[in-house]
Amino acid sequence: MSWEIADFISHPLWMVSTLLLAAVTRAQRRGPWDPSACPVRLTGKTAIVTGANTGIGKFIALDFACRDARVILACRSESRGMAALKEIRQRSGNQNVHLRIIDTSSLESVRKFAAQILEEEKELHILVNNAGVSGLPKGITSDGLEVSFATNHIGPFLLTNLLLDLLKKSAPARIVNVSSANHKRGKVDFSHFRGENLTCIMDTVYNHTKLHNVIWTNELARRLQGTGVTANSLHPGIVMTEVMRHYNWIVRLIFNIVGICFFKSAKEGAVSTIYCAVAEETEGISGKYFDSDCSLVLPAPDARDLAIGAKEFEYLSKTVNCEDCELSEPILETLSMMWLFINLYTSVDHEETVGGWPLVLQHFHSCVLMAE
Ligand SMILES: NC(=O)c1ccc[n+]([C@@H]2O[C@H](COP(=O)([O-])OP(=O)(O)OC[C@H]3O[C@@H](n4cnc5c(N)ncnc54)[C@H](OP(=O)(O)O)[C@@H]3O)[C@@H](O)[C@H]2O)c1
Repeated sequence: MSWEIADFISHPLWMVSTLLLAAVTRAQRRGPWDPSACPVRLTGKTAIVTGANTGIGKFIALDFACRDARVILACRSESRGMAALKEIRQRSGNQNVHLRIIDTSSLESVRKFAAQILEEEKELHILVNNAGVSGLPKGITSDGLEVSFATNHIGPFLLTNLLLDLLKKSAPARIVNVSSANHKRGKVDFSHFRGENLTCIMDTVYNHTKLHNVIWTNELARRLQGTGVTANSLHPGIVMTEVMRHYNWIVRLIFNIVGICFFKSAKEGAVSTIYCAVAEETEGISGKYFDSDCSLVLPAPDARDLAIGAKEFEYLSKTVNCEDCELSEPILETLSMMWLFINLYTSVDHEETVGGWPLVLQHFHSCVLMAE
């Protein structure tokens, strides 16, 4: 029997094996943690989700609403936000869901949003920085910032800092920053914040912003130790949302065709964020990076570098000109300096009154130089 190519391609075995592969892939898309099996209730808790009108953010907000939280949808479009508000209220049966307007790419808008929250809300227990863009052409905002950096990183940094006191007051509280596995392909160059030395090909800028998300989260977690506020970042998976809207139609077409079988739905993409924000398993965990299946994984080496983390905070604080930012820990620094000083003083020979104090100061000076 001779086989033609057409016979081979049209053989029913192809159809069966493709369906089988799709079924296996679909089953594997679900992680081991199931939000619907998580009994945690959020009654009396307040949560903010940025970019909650569509995609992953909408399902995060819906989950919080189903757990009876007071949910604030932080969206940039009134009409898109209102549509999501109606849908979430209807699907959850929770009327305590509200819309507030924010454009994370504008520092003025972020400040206005934060001021409104501080005026209206007595407590804040969950802040999810989810809003993000990918594939935007290079642009500079009226604040002089590169637009993708402003949207994905600098705006969320300012927002978090402005709400930090409220979060601390409401502790235990959780900050969850939606990053991406793409952060591993990002690079750190602080001149990127203002659009300098930046090459915009495909998702390069996006990758940089997502790396900065993880670096900042880890540094924030370090600074929040002992406050009862945790900060973690995560990868939601490759998710079928509107995230590709700024790419050309060919890229979007390929993404959508491949995505039908292999990528997560927006609901599935929300799982790792919900895990970080509400699960009992993540209570008290801070400064970590979670994969889309909710497992703890190591982020890129730059995100684990304490010196880069410290620089990140310094640059961001200067960039947003933030007086409220937790720039340094002056009390801790003063205490550790005093401790160092006392140790040095007790370690030198005080019998020689002439050599004693200058020697202490000399030791002190060299220790400070070493620390720097
Ligand atoms: N989808 C994926 O495969 C994937 C993978 C890794 C990480 N992520 C991350 O997951 C997060 C959610 O993405 P998604 O996939 O759900 O994308 P999406 O469907 O495009 O949703 C993005 C959300 O962010 C909002 N947003 C964008 N720019 C904003 C701004 N300047 N101010 C306020 N809100 C703004 C959008 O509002 P409008 O609708 O008004 O534009 C929308 O609500 C993003 O941080 C993204 O980087 C996604």
